[in-house]
Amino acid sequence: MAMMGMAGVAARSARHRLSCSTGHLPSMRASSPPLSRQITMDAQSLAARLKSSGLLRSQGLIGGKWVDAYDGSTIKVHNPATGEVITEVPCMGSRETKDAISSAYDAFQSWSKVTAAERSRHLRKWYDLLISHKEELGQLITLEQGKPLKEAIGEVGYGASFIEYFSEEAKRVYGDIIPAPLADRRLFVLKQPVGVVGTITPWNFPLAMITRKVGPALACGCTVVIKPSELTPLTALAAAELSLQAGIPPGAVNVVMGKASDIGDSLLESSQLRKITFTGSTAVGKRLMAGAAATVKKVSLELGGNAPCIVFDDADVDVAVKGTLAAKFRNSGQTCVCANRVIVQEGIYEKFATAFSNAVQNLQVGDGFSEGVAQGPLINEAALHKVESFVEDAISKGAKILLGGKRHSLGRTFYEPTIMTDVKSDMLISREEVFGPVAPLLRFRTEEEAIRMANDTNAGLAAYIFTSNVQRTWRVTEALEYGIVGVNEGIISTEVAPFGGVKQSGLGREGSKYGIDEYLELKYVCLGNMSH
Ligand code: SIN
Repeated sequence: MAMMGMAGVAARSARHRLSCSTGHLPSMRASSPPLSRQITMDAQSLAARLKSSGLLRSQGLIGGKWVDAYDGSTIKVHNPATGEVITEVPCMGSRETKDAISSAYDAFQSWSKVTAAERSRHLRKWYDLLISHKEELGQLITLEQGKPLKEAIGEVGYGASFIEYFSEEAKRVYGDIIPAPLADRRLFVLKQPVGVVGTITPWNFPLAMITRKVGPALACGCTVVIKPSELTPLTALAAAELSLQAGIPPGAVNVVMGKASDIGDSLLESSQLRKITFTGSTAVGKRLMAGAAATVKKVSLELGGNAPCIVFDDADVDVAVKGTLAAKFRNSGQTCVCANRVIVQEGIYEKFATAFSNAVQNLQVGDGFSEGVAQGPLINEAALHKVESFVEDAISKGAKILLGGKRHSLGRTFYEPTIMTDVKSDMLISREEVFGPVAPLLRFRTEEEAIRMANDTNAGLAAYIFTSNVQRTWRVTEALEYGIVGVNEGIISTEVAPFGGVKQSGLGREGSKYGIDEYLELKYVCLGNMSH
């Protein structure tokens, strides 16, 4: 059988093909033309070309100036597909972070007073620049993160969509007038920007996790200090360069990277910085939340998930396979909303397992720049070891390998797309986020049992259900303790809907009309002595 990419597997549905390759719901207006050229290319010559285009930056950004670490130290950024060093970036710490906060604080004094219409125009310009550099940014993402180029370019569209969306929302930050309880009073509510925001982002979406925080922050008048992951700082730096080109004033967007704990501590300690927004592990999120207490900062957290994907007997098998494939194998399983447990009702278990296995075995693994590749490498050795240890634990407790189950013959951090059967709720792979291309299949009998299994976790980000019964859809959706539920759909991410979790998956929502509230303070104003 010819090897096909994820898009090929899903060729039955054009909509699915697009969603699957980009990993988010397609925006009606931001659709991109298909890639018309051969995407295989030599990573080193690509890096050289990106450098000459000005988008491969290797310095941090403080107060509108590109700067090295004050002690000159650097960290290497690697291509996870080859292990090659792409470039080096400054290894910054407390001093640089404090200066970045001061710059953001100074810039806040003017940016917060600029009209909403003007902020909106700057954000729109930034969006236009991100889109016009979609290919180069996609190449940077593939280079430093490893995801297939088509998926990386999809991430640029997804990431840019937050800037576009919040360029529009900037003009809709309305206050309120409250009917006063006394005749001589007038009461109203102003919405004002919280101030300087510290933005700590992960490596799995080097652009989109930044833009969905920075978009709403800038839109309502906040300024930001971004700390991207040290594994993937290059996309963040390129996006920051484009923000300057868009006319966003120096100091409104700052980028520091390097010693994560020093940078994190400086952000937490500063009384000039009024909010921390973080996407990443639950463990780090808890530390940030505790640390923010000292200066009583606002905190938004988008933390780990343990997404159940429930397939009921009455599901359409093709729809369930297509949705589970997208929910599990997007970004090689490295998203917080990836299906972590595929919970299948006993009457459809064998049929689903066979069909799912047929689809998964067609996923082509390789360097993200190679044509047809649907699964790139895992980000690093630690990620690979985690996947291996979870699989070993499950096997030692009785799970079976239906497909894959080991490192890929390509070596490095490539892992075979894997399906395991006979998985039980007490295995590590059911308890914790595997963050890799392994789909464990668990079995259930009744709807009540499925709900109990799905909710038996501290996480509560995304859940998926596959059923053709409308009443069941409502019943189960309401019973699931999750912030997001996909029904007969594996791709749920879009800038227009609120993204976020309950329980230990986090606090707050990103994207949508609700996302901007995270960056606003309410000020109640009472006007007295209003009688004539
Ligand atoms: C994440 O993995 O945290 C984000 C995934 C998404 O935006 O779809």
